[in-house]
Amino acid sequence: MAVSTIEWADGRIRMIDQTLLPNEFKHIYCDDLPSTWEAIKSLRVRGAPAIGIAGALGAVLGIWNSTAKTYEEFATELKSATDYLATSRPTAVNLFWALDRITRTGEENSQLRIPDLKEVLLAEALEIIDEDKAMCRAIGQHGMALLNENDTILTHCNAGGLATSDYGTALAVMFSAHEAGKHIQVYADETRPLLQGARLTTWELMQAGIDVTLICDNMAAQVMKEGKIQCVIVGADRIAANGDTANKIGTYNVAILAEAHGIPFYVAAPTSTLDFALETGDQIPIEQRASEEVTEGFGKLTAPEGVKVYSPAFDVTPAALVSAIITEKGVARAPYTESLKTMRDA
Ligand code: MRU
Repeated sequence: MAVSTIEWADGRIRMIDQTLLPNEFKHIYCDDLPSTWEAIKSLRVRGAPAIGIAGALGAVLGIWNSTAKTYEEFATELKSATDYLATSRPTAVNLFWALDRITRTGEENSQLRIPDLKEVLLAEALEIIDEDKAMCRAIGQHGMALLNENDTILTHCNAGGLATSDYGTALAVMFSAHEAGKHIQVYADETRPLLQGARLTTWELMQAGIDVTLICDNMAAQVMKEGKIQCVIVGADRIAANGDTANKIGTYNVAILAEAHGIPFYVAAPTSTLDFALETGDQIPIEQRASEEVTEGFGKLTAPEGVKVYSPAFDVTPAALVSAIITEKGVARAPYTESLKTMRDA
């Protein structure tokens, strides 16, 4: 994308407000912890890698104006910032990965003067952004080898440039194939209730000149049955050691449909989305969202007032349904317990 999803801008965080897309393209600035927390919570910035970047920059924001005189005082302030940001959204492990990385950098540089330490933490957050850009490009290169000429791909939610610092994960595969001259088409699931597929994925693909068709989530089975889809590619919010994959609610449905129709189901994610602390996906915390997102997501009541709502924001696709996991280090296949470790250590 020509414009950065999220970046550091002179002591503030500048980001595209994704809740307004595609109707309005607007940047907002976060200049303190509460506004950064709110931006993550309300999905102004969203997508696992982008949430990680918001966390890292937010942690820097938390100590940027610190007047601490000692490292101990400074470390206490940093901890309270990272603890607070960690309460924004629970599922994407990239958030916790990025917060840990900033904390570790602080510990490793505890001998520095406080002003120098602040600069080192900022440099680390900016390094996370640079690495993310490179990871997305590499995922695109590894993934496009899985696509054939004239393939049509189904995707769910948004794992594009808006969900990362730039270029995306699942969409990176499509962008790379398109840039390499392969003819591909994409079907984008609308992705109820917050419509990341309809609002963001189609917007990104249309800008890139990729042939994209929008469908409602409940149309995927019919589209597959009609023989229109050659593979599914989605992103991930957290992948357990055995390959079980948490991604936007509805992904599991798509994986079951892909299996039923003999269609490969690929997950594209950087190794920062792997969580080796969790043996299986059963241990992945699933975020619950407010009922209004289902009953009046975009300003119009579409259910009786007061109706009971259950709204998990993510589901977990069992590893057995995942044909391959495309990382920046290569393509992992089952058994994932071994192949993902190889990816991590490569
Ligand atoms: O609730 P969201 O919009 O943050 O959910 C995003 C997803 O589920 C993405 O597919 C995932 O984070 C991968 S983004 C590269």
